[in-house]
Amino acid sequence: MEKIIVKGGCKLSGEVNISSAKNSVLPIIAASILSGDKCYIRNAPMLEDVLVICDVLRSLNAEVNINRTNNIITIDTSKACTGEPNPELVRKMRASFLIMGPMIARFGKFRISLPGGCNIGTRPIDLHLKGLTALGVKIKLGHGYVEANTNKLIGNKIYLDFPSVGATENIMMAAALAEGETTIENAAAEPEIEDLAHFLNSMGAKIKGAGTDTIKISGVKELKGVTHTPIYDRIEAGTFMVAAAITKSKIKINGIMEEHMKPVIAKLTECGVAMEIQGESIIVDGDRDLRPVDIKTMPYPGFPTDMQAQMMALLSTVKGTSIITETIFENRYMHVGELKRMGAEIKIEGRSAVIEGVDRLCGAEVKATDLRAGAALILAALSAEGVTAIGDIYHIDRGYVEIEKKIQMLGADIRRLKE
Ligand code: EPZ
Repeated sequence: MEKIIVKGGCKLSGEVNISSAKNSVLPIIAASILSGDKCYIRNAPMLEDVLVICDVLRSLNAEVNINRTNNIITIDTSKACTGEPNPELVRKMRASFLIMGPMIARFGKFRISLPGGCNIGTRPIDLHLKGLTALGVKIKLGHGYVEANTNKLIGNKIYLDFPSVGATENIMMAAALAEGETTIENAAAEPEIEDLAHFLNSMGAKIKGAGTDTIKISGVKELKGVTHTPIYDRIEAGTFMVAAAITKSKIKINGIMEEHMKPVIAKLTECGVAMEIQGESIIVDGDRDLRPVDIKTMPYPGFPTDMQAQMMALLSTVKGTSIITETIFENRYMHVGELKRMGAEIKIEGRSAVIEGVDRLCGAEVKATDLRAGAALILAALSAEGVTAIGDIYHIDRGYVEIEKKIQMLGADIRRLKE
């Protein structure tokens, strides 16, 4: 198995370029099923999860070409057929479930294995199914599978009990080809949903309000193929902002949208980090006395749960008491045990983690337990005394393009060890 080896204590300097957003590209690849024309995704991030969803489409007889030279993914679903995507792939990555809405809208019927949960929670899909049912889809659950069919999708008014990102996306994609008007209330407002709506509207959909809590979709008869460049990955950008803070370095991060970074900029500012926006770049100066802060993860525009682990690594090195409360996922503290192996002082009390900052973390043998936990361990290792070996780094490769190479370019002593 591969490991990432980090010798802590190096200052970072220079610039890093942020890739396109994983959580934009995944639903956009799923949405390409809605048209029989070719779709082109430019500047696509060559991530494990992106490769998996491409294989899911291939298992439905779509032609997907991944050009790693120019980072363009070409998708041709003209020969795609309904049927059942490879269950191994669906279980491997929950986001595969995002093809359900498009498949129902295109073919009227579909069967898919229930997506596995993962380390951060049970990850139910009840809101997805409730929304699709409201659009006239008959859903049958059994033996670990979802069977869905409809004669016609009819627009409806849907109120989400929770602003679920995936449920909002699945419903929006199905409603794009439904007859009549659909309103999604208490919708998720993440930037990736706005990007998906942008992609769908350029295909000919009629979607208004994406990025707010109320989205209105007027169904159309058909959608055409388009070329789309996804937004930058705000979580990768936030991860590098924390890298500057935890190593007390000053770096420039290219590829940010100020609007999307607001919750992370606000919290890092409160912590004492200096930041300066320059167009689509940000200069982060972490070489300052940082202060403990309290964080509560919330749906966008609140503080993102996908930045919780990274901030916990930083606050483990900031003198004083910080409290993090994770409100989105019920089990997103798997990184606490690993950070404690590095000397962090963290206590879990219900949904909160109480962090007492220590002078210095120490290198250790640790394991990534999920995508963002793995990123947090890299950040902790960058500031720790001595060498840290991080195992199970396949979790990290799901969401970060060559993270160790990008950090190496900033001057860190970090390498991937192929065992
Ligand atoms: C998306 O997951 C992201 N993944 C996650 O990023 C992110 O953490 C999450 O949104 C929250 O922002 C992708 O976009 C591919 P949810 P998703 O549906 O859609 C509950 C990463 O690190 N829920 O908003 O699965 C659910 O249990 C990943 O990049 C229901 O109860 O998230 C959870 O507690 C991790 N019923 C909460 O809502 C449902 O039907 C948020 O889930 C659906 C969700």
